[in-house]
Amino acid sequence: MGSVIPLKKSANSAYFDLKNILNSKLDSVERLIHSKLESEVELIKEMSDYHLGSGGKRIRALLTMGAAKLGGYSHGSRDVNLAACVELIHSATLLHDDVIDESKVRRGTKTANSIWGNQSPILVGDYLLSRCFEMMVEDGNLEILKLLSSTSSKIAQGEVLQLTCKGEADLLEENYIKIISLKTAALFSAATRVGACIAGLDKKKKEALESYGKNIGLAFQIADDALDYFSKEKIFGKEIGKDFFESKVTLPIIIVFQKANPIERTFLKTLFKKNVRQKEDFNSVLKLIKKYNALELTFKRAEYFVNVSYDALGIFENCEEKRVLQNLTGFSLNRSY
Ligand code: IPE
Ligand code: IPE
Ligand code: MG
Ligand code: MG
Repeated sequence: MGSVIPLKKSANSAYFDLKNILNSKLDSVERLIHSKLESEVELIKEMSDYHLGSGGKRIRALLTMGAAKLGGYSHGSRDVNLAACVELIHSATLLHDDVIDESKVRRGTKTANSIWGNQSPILVGDYLLSRCFEMMVEDGNLEILKLLSSTSSKIAQGEVLQLTCKGEADLLEENYIKIISLKTAALFSAATRVGACIAGLDKKKKEALESYGKNIGLAFQIADDALDYFSKEKIFGKEIGKDFFESKVTLPIIIVFQKANPIERTFLKTLFKKNVRQKEDFNSVLKLIKKYNALELTFKRAEYFVNVSYDALGIFENCEEKRVLQNLTGFSLNRSY
C-alpha cells in the first residue's frame, strides 16, 4: 500500500535545491522570527521557542522568497520580513490546530498542548499572529496587508468548516476541496503571491505565481491526508490514523465511499458517526482502502494539481529559480514528511 505514483516532473531534491538557491536567507528568517517573538512573559518565550525550534520544513517561507527571486527581487529584506510573516501565520495555525485536533505529536516531538494544556497554546498562537500583523504593518504595503489578513480569515473558516463536516463519511469531494482550499492552499497561494508583489510583477505573473502556490498547496494537503493513513510516525513526525480517529473525512475515505457497495457505505457511515473508533475499525478501513486502491487514486487526484501548479510557471523565462520551483511541485506529493 502507499506506492506513490512516479511523477515525470518530480525531483525530491527540489526542497533542498530551493533552500540552496536562497543561500542564507532562511537563517535570516529564523533569526528575525526569534527576535520578533521576544517577550517579558516567560511562558510566551518558552513556548514559542519550543514550537518554532521543533523544526518544520519552512516550505511556505521558502516559497515566498523563491517566488520573489523568480520575479527578480534581489535587493532589500522585504522577502525575509514577509516570509517570516507567512511562517508566523503557519506556526500560529499549527498551535491552534493541535488543540482542536487534540494532537500529541508534531515534528516527531510533543505538541505544545500536550505539554502546557490547551489554554496557553491558543493564546500564544494569537500572540504569534499579532506579531505577524505588526510586521506586515511595518512593511506598509496595503495589497500585501489585505492579502495576508484575508488569508488568515480563510484558514480559520477552513478549520471551522472542517469541524462542521466531521463524521460525514459521505462528504462530497467538492466540499473536501473547499475545506483544503481554505485551510491550506490559501496560505500557499498567499505565500507565492506575496513574493510576486515584492518583486513588482505584473498582474498576469502575480496570478501565475498565485495559481502555482494554490495548486501546490492542494497537492500538499492531499499528500498529507494520504500519509495520515499509511506513513510511519517516526518518518511522518505525527500520529498515524489521526484523521480517522478524529472522524475527519479526507480524500482516501471519500474515494472509498464513492466505490463502496451499499453494505460498506452503511458500515462507513456508522463508523464515522461513532463517538470513539478503535484500532480494529482503523484496520477495517485500511482493508477497504486497499480493496479500492484508494491511496493510488488519491495520489492520482493530487497529481492533477501538481501538473496545474507546474504549468502555471510556464509564462516565466527559463531560469534556475523556475526549474527549482517547478520541481518542488513533485516534492509536495512525493514527500514522506
Ligand atoms: C502541516 O504543514 C500542516 C498541513 C498543511 C498539512 P507542514 O507539513 O508544512 O508542517 P511543518 O511546518 O513542516 O511541520
Ligand atoms: C493543519 O491541518 C492545519 C491547517 C492546514 C490549517 P491538519 O490538521 O490537516 O494537519 P496536521 O495533520 O495536523 O498537520
Ligand atoms: Mg491537525
Ligand atoms: Mg493531517
